[in-house]
Amino acid sequence: MGGPMSRRLLEAGHRLVVYNRTSSKAVPLAAAGATVAASLSELVARSTVICACLDRLEASEEVWLGPGGVRSGASAGSIAIDHGTIGPALARRIGIGLGERGIEFLDAPVSGGPEGAGQGTLTIMAGGSAEAFETALPVLRAYGRTIVRMGPIGAGSLTKLVNQLLTFVHGAAAAEAIGLAERLGLDLRSLGDVLQASFGQSRMLARTLGRVLERDFEAGAPLRLYGKDLRLVHELGHSANAALPMIGAASRVLEQAQAAGLSDQDIAALVTLFRDRDNGSVGIRHR
Ligand SMILES: NC(=O)c1ccc[n+]([C@@H]2O[C@H](COP(=O)([O-])OP(=O)(O)OC[C@H]3O[C@@H](n4cnc5c(N)ncnc54)[C@H](OP(=O)(O)O)[C@@H]3O)[C@@H](O)[C@H]2O)c1
Repeated sequence: MGGPMSRRLLEAGHRLVVYNRTSSKAVPLAAAGATVAASLSELVARSTVICACLDRLEASEEVWLGPGGVRSGASAGSIAIDHGTIGPALARRIGIGLGERGIEFLDAPVSGGPEGAGQGTLTIMAGGSAEAFETALPVLRAYGRTIVRMGPIGAGSLTKLVNQLLTFVHGAAAAEAIGLAERLGLDLRSLGDVLQASFGQSRMLARTLGRVLERDFEAGAPLRLYGKDLRLVHELGHSANAALPMIGAASRVLEQAQAAGLSDQDIAALVTLFRDRDNGSVGIRHR
């Protein structure tokens, strides 16, 4: 996600300093006009708005609060923005840690995947002060189209987890439906035409069907990231004393996918669990 977001920032004319743990991944950004910092502390010293998009919660905690990270090096008045899906508890902890040093924090998770980042059409759901949000908007507009402040720090993460509940349940339901249709011998292109005009339609169905027809399960949204996200959704349901039976069922589908070795594939690869199941065909084949 960080690569295409950085490119959009450069295209929008921002001065950009980048740092990535695996330095080779930052090289193409240098060619596009970014300054590559040799360390996180160098990036922090040279930036007033600092964005991160990391795939593990421990990594976010380390970058924002750890030694050599943003808390120890950024000046008061800087703005820190986390675009990862980190959950409300960590977002609030980071907000407190940075706030003690006068650094503003926005938890601002995104939806739309690497394609949306590259096209500048991400949805961004932010939590933090109205002032920090307004100051950050010119940055966020470089890669976001729908950008909403949902409330104080943590509110962006709460919103993203509600979105992730729907994304995964819809994705699993789409895979189940497409797997069934294939076993019934239905023509998937015609099915797509019908469903896109029916109540069965969803963005995850359209996305999954498109990838099945293209036979493209290379990860835009890898299943391993949903393991983290669904754990956070379960924690949220527990803390809100909310029953979440749909995400419970979908989580079992994710466990099956991980056991089948699909963790690094796209969520659309869930289809293979349903269509390749060896329990005989029950459909009527077209003549
Ligand atoms: N992919 C999507 O469709 C999508 C959509 C919306 C939101 N998100 C969220 O966005 C976040 C990032 O996802 P992604 O798909 O961009 O993941 P990714 O491609 O795996 O990138 C993860 C980044 O985190 C860095 N990193 C991991 N551990 C680190 C550590 N200990 N110290 C420093 N850097 C570390 C990696 O550095 P290295 O290069 O050195 O490994 C890499 O730059 C996740 O929270 C995800 O849930 C993803």
